[in-house]
Amino acid sequence: MMRLKVNGQDHQIDAEPDTPLLYVLRDDLKLNAAKFGCGLGQCGSCTVIIDGKAVLSCVTPMVLLEGKQVTTLEGLGNVSQPAPIQRAFMEEQAAQCGYCIAGMMMRAQALLQRNRKPTDEQIRSELAPHLCRCGTHMRILRAVHRAARLMETAELAPADKRSAQ
Ligand code: FES
Repeated sequence: MMRLKVNGQDHQIDAEPDTPLLYVLRDDLKLNAAKFGCGLGQCGSCTVIIDGKAVLSCVTPMVLLEGKQVTTLEGLGNVSQPAPIQRAFMEEQAAQCGYCIAGMMMRAQALLQRNRKPTDEQIRSELAPHLCRCGTHMRILRAVHRAARLMETAELAPADKRSAQ
């Protein structure tokens, strides 16, 4: 048995030490936002955040995760209460087929957590490991900038205004 903390919840997982985190998220915990694309660390569709950093869950074995905090897209928000990054991607219609988008949002989220006003160049470079064949790249760029603005607005809003929304 291994202990794993995902989206703030503790889990006991029966898995081999070399089982990839992605399999545990999808098969054991039924968290399906992180996608299996290549399984080789080459496409980015399985990206989650571990202790603030974007990580490829398909090549991250369970043995490395004792005591770590894993966040998946489900942990940021949902359709009725989307996080700024989710809202921004919806408002910019940044997904086409959508398969890679959860991974992109997680890496963009990790970027925005350490850099609240990234430049175009910084966003492009951060998202470079993610493969997307649909061609919505300009919308994705706009969505990350929009998310940065939404996060800034949320921080500036008085607490009572936020709780009333
Ligand atoms: Fe993990 Fe492609 S599925 S990088």
